Amino acid sequence: MMDDEELAKVVRDVVLSKLQEKQAQDALSASPEDTSPEGTIPRHTYAEAGNPPLIVAANWKMHMDKRSTTEFAQAFDPPARDDLGVVICPPYYLLSLLKDALGDKPVAVGAQNMHPEPKGPFTGELSPLMLADAGCSHVILGHSERRKNFGETSEKINPKVAAALGAGLAPILCVGETLDQREDGATMRVVTNQLTLSLNRISINEVRPLIIAYEPMWAIGTGRNATPEQAQEVHAHIREVLKQLYSYNVARDTRILYGGSVKPDNAGDLAIQPDVDGFLVGGASLKPDSFTEIIRNALRALEKDGSQG
Ligand code: PGA
Repeated sequence: MMDDEELAKVVRDVVLSKLQEKQAQDALSASPEDTSPEGTIPRHTYAEAGNPPLIVAANWKMHMDKRSTTEFAQAFDPPARDDLGVVICPPYYLLSLLKDALGDKPVAVGAQNMHPEPKGPFTGELSPLMLADAGCSHVILGHSERRKNFGETSEKINPKVAAALGAGLAPILCVGETLDQREDGATMRVVTNQLTLSLNRISINEVRPLIIAYEPMWAIGTGRNATPEQAQEVHAHIREVLKQLYSYNVARDTRILYGGSVKPDNAGDLAIQPDVDGFLVGGASLKPDSFTEIIRNALRALEKDGSQG
């Protein structure tokens, strides 16, 4: 276990090497759009070939079975729109079943974890290639329940993010602080460290499909969501870190989801925050009605707010 000082040094080294890499890239391919205009980064800009501006993802954790998955897929019918991405991440054994049961509904399927190697003697693990073979396009990585219960550190998550990107899967990289860290005023430092270490050696050319989920640990499964202002503050910080690590365009185009007790009745207020690009939903994603309502409430609030597009 590294102490705070050692960790800060590792983070400094990583930031430094990222900056050097970025400078080398900029010198090689000075693209006029990739310079960094001053001021706030506009919300919900379409990336040329990137993720839609609003993404709502379901994390089913260790819930559901074959029958409830089939019933869910039959009942669930989200709107098909270019500006919306819907993803469901069931337990591994339900991936193919869910994919088939959804048919051509506009829903992507993702996994909740992954081993970074393509194959090998790793009993009980699944590789990026296996996930892709099961029909996955996304994978949640570094969820706080894995960090807390299975010893996943950002150093261990880093090769997984790289492997997912290499296999054409969009990683949903989770970051977030504990209640103690928030009360100590350490939220921004913790999130910066998690991001910097998890994205170590991942280049600007590879990082585009990345999705980030800010999930304060004190809000997960507790019924206590971050306020829209608390979420916005950390999301804006995450975007700033991405700008430092990569570029203005990467910061602008990376979708940053909020997770932690998202429900139909708080989805609208959270969705209209300028740096909240969607949600990672646990408990409220297990029923098609509440998951659909979260999507609809987010779309409705954005339309009313007039800030989408
Ligand atoms: P929750 O879980 O919505 O039940 O709080 C979110 C998550 O853990 O991804």
